[in-house]
Parts: sequence; C-alpha cells; structure tokens
Amino acid sequence: GSALMLSFPFSPNSMTAVIIILAAVIALIIGFGISGKHSISVTALTSLGNIGQRSILGCTFVPDIWMDSTVIQWAKEGAAGLVHEFRGGKDHLQEQDPSFQGRTAVFAEQVMGGNASLELKDVQLSDAGTYQCSVTTARGSGAAVLHYRTGAFSIPVVQVQSSSHGDTLQCEAPRWFPRPAVHWTAHGDTGDPLPHAANTSYQLNPENITVRVLSFLHNVTANTTYTCVIENSIARAIGNIRVTDFSITKVTNLQLVNLNAESVSSSFPACHWMLLLPLYLLSI
Ligand SMILES: *[C@@H]1O[C@H](CO)[C@@H](O)[C@H](O)[C@H]1NC(C)=O
Ligand SMILES: *[C@@H]1O[C@H](CO)[C@@H](O)[C@H](O)[C@H]1NC(C)=O
Ligand SMILES: *[C@@H]1O[C@H](CO)[C@@H](O)[C@H](O)[C@H]1NC(C)=O
Ligand SMILES: *[C@@H]1O[C@H](CO)[C@@H](O)[C@H](O)[C@H]1NC(C)=O
Ligand SMILES: *[C@@H]1O[C@H](CO)[C@@H](O)[C@H](O)[C@H]1NC(C)=O
Repeated sequence: GSALMLSFPFSPNSMTAVIIILAAVIALIIGFGISGKHSISVTALTSLGNIGQRSILGCTFVPDIWMDSTVIQWAKEGAAGLVHEFRGGKDHLQEQDPSFQGRTAVFAEQVMGGNASLELKDVQLSDAGTYQCSVTTARGSGAAVLHYRTGAFSIPVVQVQSSSHGDTLQCEAPRWFPRPAVHWTAHGDTGDPLPHAANTSYQLNPENITVRVLSFLHNVTANTTYTCVIENSIARAIGNIRVTDFSITKVTNLQLVNLNAESVSSSFPACHWMLLLPLYLLSI
C-alpha cells in the first residue's frame, strides 16, 4: 500500500506505466525464483592435455540421491556431435562426434558423489577448445564451460658424459609441443660466474607434432649444481644435477602453467549456455 502512495503525484497515465513496471519487476523476481529451483551448481576446472596421453576434464555438481535420473552431457564448441553422454547409469553414445569415438568415459561409480569429470584418452592436439559440462538431476539442471588446452611436455633426464675434453652434461626430454626454449643455469660453491655454451637440438617425432629435445652443456666442473630448464607456453620442466668427486645428485620437476588457475562456476539453467559463452570468451 505505501509503495503505491508514492505514486500519488503522478498523472493516471504515468501511474499505469509505474504499475506495469512494478508488475514486470515482480514477474521477473518470481521468474528468477522458479528458475532458481530448477538450477543446480556445476563447476568445471580448466584442464591441460598431454598429446597421446590420458587426461581428465574436471567437472563437479551438487549430487542428488536419485542417481538414475542424473544426465551428464559433455559438448565441445564447434563439434557436430556430443563428446559424451551418460544417462540412467549408462553411456549413450549414439550422438557422439566421431572424433571422440572410443576415447571418452565418465567415472560411473563417482557420479553419485557429484563427479561428472570426463576421461579423455589418446589426447589429440585438435582436442583443444571450449567444452561444456551440463548436468541434469531430479533437482534441476546446470552447466559450466571450461577451456581445454593441449600440448606435449615430459620430464627431462640429465646425465654426465666424461671424456678427455672434460665433462659434458646432457639434458634430454622425449616429447614437447609447442617447441620449447631451453636454458641452463649453474650455481657453484665458489660463486664465480660460470661461462658455458649450450648446444640444443630438436628432433621431430614420428607423429610429426612433438619434438625430442636434446641439449648439451660442455666443460662442466665438479661441485656445481647445474639446472636445465625446458619451457613452453604450457609447461616448465627442470632437471638439476650436481656432480661432486664422490656422487651425482639429480632432481627433476615439472610444472604446468596456469593449471586450475581459472575455474568457471555457474548456477543457471542449461539454456543460458548460449548467453554465457560469448561473455566467457570475452573474459579470457
Ligand atoms: C573424479 O573421479 C576421478 C576418478 O576417481 C578422479 O580422478 C577425479 O579427480 C575426480 N574429479 C573430481 C573433480 O573430483
Ligand atoms: C652442436 O651439436 C651439433 C649436433 O649434435 C654439432 O654438429 C655441433 O658441432 C654442436 N655445436 C657445438 C658448438 O658444440
Ligand atoms: C610425417 O611427415 C612425413 C614427411 O612430411 C610423412 O612422410 C609422414 O607420413 C608423416 N607422418 C605422420 C604420422 O603423419
Ligand atoms: C672445453 O675446454 C677445452 C679446454 O679447456 C677447450 O679446448 C674447449 O674448447 C672447451 N669446449 C667448449 C665447448 O667450451
Ligand atoms: C669438491 O668439494 C669437495 C669437498 O668439499 C673437495 O674435497 C673437492 O676437492 C672439490 N672438488 C673440486 C673439483 O673442486
């Protein structure tokens, strides 16, 4: 009542306009309330795929006790068919895009706990792109998008080769893509600068995408820790080696760039996917 009193100074015409606007606002609020009951929260995690290997595209949702009514659909932007569909406790692959045939699975026994992650085998460079994980349960539907990146990365092996010309270090990693940069650093006990010329070569592997990385560092000295760093836009691997008169110590490590740094969380009906996608693309 008091809200309507505020419109007292308005003419009958503008009064009608105010009522229409109020009605629209109320309809909108009710509309959101209803759609809220029919949406569930779905979260996807940005993933990274290593070409030729197995990979997991992460997706979780708020589970429902009526497991049999859960439908999980994975779709890829630009793909003609679905990536994977899981419904009534079983895979339904009639509408699967041929490029994913035989390479996908969901973790059926984990779906009950809210895990809608997709397992992707034999990752291809072309699998990179924007994926949508949509889930429908008895409570409602939800969807989330993730940007999937692919490349190749592997841990290096560092070895010492002794010859009459002095010791040489060899840093070798079997599979990288895009072609990485390689550099060496040295940390000696003496703290003296350590001038070294590294010789790095790349060899194309038989699948014509990934390269084998081989780098030599000549004339290395004892009691110094040498580090070989292999790095591209998706990963950074280091191989440490320390040679003393009595021992050789090695440490290797691989870090993936930005893994799980972005995550898209959403709570909205699945039909809003088309609206959300352009916003998501603008934000990256
Ligand atoms: C889903 O389950 C798989 C298999 O156990 C596991 O590797 C993965 O980390 C799980 N994902 C999430 C998001 O919990
Ligand atoms: C670098 O390696 C290539 C092939 O392994 C060799 O031909 C070349 O002489 C090497 N260069 C240096 C500076 O050691
Ligand atoms: C790789 O490229 C070579 C020459 O370009 C070609 O002969 C070979 O069939 C290619 N291999 C694959 C797996 O595509
Ligand atoms: C290594 O040292 C030897 C002798 O000290 C020198 O002749 C040779 O050029 C050096 N090699 C490199 C690659 O620096
Ligand atoms: C390396 O360090 C050990 C122990 O500190 C020492 O005995 C040895 O002489 C050193 N070797 C060189 C080449 O500096």
